[in-house]
This record gives sequence, C-alpha cells and structure tokens, in this order.
Amino acid sequence: MSTVLITGANRGIGLALARQYASQGANVFACCRDPAKADDLEELAASSSGRVRIITLDVADESSMASLKRTLGDQPIDILINNAGISGLSEDRIEAEGYMTTMRVNALAPMLIAQAMHDNLRSSTQKKLVAITSIMGSTSSAGGAKYAYRASKAALNNGMRGLSRAWAHEGILVALLNPGYVQTEMVKGQVAFISADECARGLIARIAELTPATSGIFQDYRGVKIRW
Ligand SMILES: NC(=O)c1ccc[n+]([C@@H]2O[C@H](COP(=O)([O-])OP(=O)(O)OC[C@H]3O[C@@H](n4cnc5c(N)ncnc54)[C@H](OP(=O)(O)O)[C@@H]3O)[C@@H](O)[C@H]2O)c1
Repeated sequence: MSTVLITGANRGIGLALARQYASQGANVFACCRDPAKADDLEELAASSSGRVRIITLDVADESSMASLKRTLGDQPIDILINNAGISGLSEDRIEAEGYMTTMRVNALAPMLIAQAMHDNLRSSTQKKLVAITSIMGSTSSAGGAKYAYRASKAALNNGMRGLSRAWAHEGILVALLNPGYVQTEMVKGQVAFISADECARGLIARIAELTPATSGIFQDYRGVKIRW
C-alpha cells in the first residue's frame, strides 16, 4: 500500500488527488495551511478509516516545514506531491513583493520540501517526487503577461530536473507534470477544459508509470511531452 503526501490538499487538484489515492487504499498525508477551514478534506479524512491524515503546512513558512518533518519523523513517503501553488500575486504588473511571494510558494517551497523529505523518500519503496508545474513554465512557448507565475514554474522545472539527476543514484524518480487547464479556484471565472477529477486520474496514471527513463521529463497529465 502506498503512502502519499500532498501539499495544498484542501481544494482543487490537491483534494481530487487525495480523494482518488484514498479510494485506491493509499495512506494519505493531506497537508493544508488551515485545517479549520478545510471542510471537504475533513469530510474525506472522517470517512477514510484513518487512511487520510490532515497535517498543517504553510509551504511559504520554513518553521511550518520543520514542524511537518517533526510530525513525520522517519515515516517513509512513497509519493511526495508538491501541488500547492498560487497564480501570481503581481499578475501582469511587475511588482517586487508579489513576484517574490510567487517565486517562494511555487518554486522555492517544493525544493525545500523535497530536501526536508529526502530521507523519507529515500527510505520508501517507490521513491517518487512529483511537482505540479504548468505549461506556462515552458520558456519556448511563453506568451506575455503573468511573468511571476511563468518564471516561478520555469524555476520549479529547472530545480526538479536538477534533483532528478542528483538523486537518480538513490533510485528517486521525479515527475514534472502539467495538470492541464483545470476547473479550480485558480482559474475562477474562466471555463477550463477538464475537471479536477479527470486531471487527478491522469496525474495518478503518469505517477504510476514513472520509470528511471521518464524521470525528469516535463509532460502533461495525458503523458504528452512538453518542450522546456
Ligand atoms: N487549475 C489549472 O488550470 C492549473 C494549470 C496549471 C497548473 N496548475 C497548478 O496546479 C496546482 C494546484 O492548483 P489548483 O488549480 O488546484 O488551484 P487552487 O484550487 O487555487 O488550489 C491551490 C492550493 O494551493 C494551496 N496553497 C497556496 N499557497 C499555499 C501555501 N503558502 N501553503 C500551503 N498551501 C498553499 C491552496 O491552499 P489555500 O486554500 O490555503 O489557499 C490550495 O490548496 C498549482 O501548483 C497550480 O499552479 C493549475
């Protein structure tokens, strides 16, 4: 039985992943920054016979990451999914604080969490490190605007690609997955192409089929390779 840790598991793609892994019988550490407001996740945990455990984690806060590490101790984590993200506080205007917050949450936090969970991954059976990235992190297909978001996902891709090489000798596999255009809070007011459930099904399939040959590749939830 797999043990999966998901960041930003209280809504959107993270919640759909938590639901589907739980329904497959996995043990899920479902992280969110404010469990008191995570009603859907509470409901899932309550009906999971103890398989879904909620852990408080603000990915922008290093003391919160240290607390996560203390809570988990040396618990092996088969699949670590860095899902939490923000769409970019500075949007189309280039503004220092919003830009840096976007970089911190989307690009730096997954790297720090990977580092904090390195031993937990290494001691697991599957050893899979996942980043939910975005097509907007593809430099070759970059349009204008949303500069902070694009830059943050490009930096995330570069960092995770680096880990896929640096940790390969330990058997750690890294997936860089674009979830598609998904109907969640993040794209509120827009009509996206797929539901969070459909997206999660695709992501879980890609994570399941990850091998050393596909580790570090940038692809979407259907397995279509994306140019950097
Ligand atoms: N939706 C799309 O079309 C799309 C496309 C490409 C990539 N993505 C990526 O997919 C991932 C999930 O996004 P989504 O569409 O599911 O969006 P969402 O519904 O807005 O969910 C974002 C999640 O990230 C969490 N989060 C944000 N900042 C956090 C922090 N500092 N600490 C902990 N959790 C934090 C949110 O928690 P709170 O509720 O506490 O804010 C929420 O659980 C993101 O990385 C996003 O960039 C989405």
